[in-house]
Amino acid sequence: MTTVTTAPFGGGARLFTLSGENGYSVTLTDLGASVRDIIVPGRDGRPVDVSLCHGSYEDSAGNDGYLGATCGRVANRIRDGRFELNGKTYELNANYPGFILHGGVTGFNHALWDARIIPGGVEFKHRSPDGDQGFPGELDAAVTYTLSDDGALGIDFMAASGADTIVNLTNHTYFNLSGHADGSIADHTARIDCDFFLPTDELSRVTGEVRAVAGTVMDFTRPRLLGECLHDGDIQLKNGSGGCDHSFVLRQGEGVRLCARVSSPKTGVVLETYTDYPAVHLYTGNMLLPYKGKDGAVYAKHGAFCLETQLFPDFISCPAFEKHILRPGEPYRYRTVYKFGITT
Ligand code: BGC
Repeated sequence: MTTVTTAPFGGGARLFTLSGENGYSVTLTDLGASVRDIIVPGRDGRPVDVSLCHGSYEDSAGNDGYLGATCGRVANRIRDGRFELNGKTYELNANYPGFILHGGVTGFNHALWDARIIPGGVEFKHRSPDGDQGFPGELDAAVTYTLSDDGALGIDFMAASGADTIVNLTNHTYFNLSGHADGSIADHTARIDCDFFLPTDELSRVTGEVRAVAGTVMDFTRPRLLGECLHDGDIQLKNGSGGCDHSFVLRQGEGVRLCARVSSPKTGVVLETYTDYPAVHLYTGNMLLPYKGKDGAVYAKHGAFCLETQLFPDFISCPAFEKHILRPGEPYRYRTVYKFGITT
């Protein structure tokens, strides 16, 4: 049975530690409804912390790298920081020239969410007012984390809006399966069960094309070293600033299903990602600056990877992408599971 304990973090924020029975534990914070630590047993039985985060509350609050955070209202990029809905143009509080990233200047990663302990986990809730960062409709968002004894971290993303709007919630945990401070993830092996990816332009904005991975550097349908995509010798990897910063399209199917499997040769730790979102975004930490991490760690380029499950990025601006307009009274509900284990 997973137990939950709490502790103060700073700035009114709290820490919540979910402890399972087989050496798994996850620490969360209500600041950004974020994941901080993920402790899993390695091959030799020793604990490995596979999640990057800043040490102090102050470093976390000032962070713009989204370490472990819930990104919203709309994760990923929206071209030109504006979109049209029902014949109206919405100008957003863009945080970059040419696009808005992960919800804007004051995205959900900066919010102090309301927290409630539930069986085996924590539920975080946040009310975003109508017009927040330029998005229409008052939005009630909820993110629930639960940990099972066999090392499955379940994340449920929910939202309800008072007016037609767009929402795309994701979790932005940076993983290093050799340990959060171990350095490059080049030696990690990755398999991504996706036959198509979404090409980007020089600002990493999706172009609206859906392209087959076959014959490209994005083909991870058979296990490959992540190191094979940590360079800029391919135009797509160059667009990602020297690595992968791309969404992959899940195969047709029903419900929560496996889409990616990554493992570390050093610790034997395996991460399987399951989701019912239509896309998973692989980001290989190309912009890790360096950042000041916990326990005196310094996180640098390619020191982690993220598997951000989500709706297609910028679906609202791309004619070929399915429009997921969230209307009043309709539920927004998706689930992602990060399942940890050991390679045999
Ligand atoms: C984006 C990257 C960005 C990073 C921010 C990722 O989800 O795709 O382009 O640099 O988040 O830390």
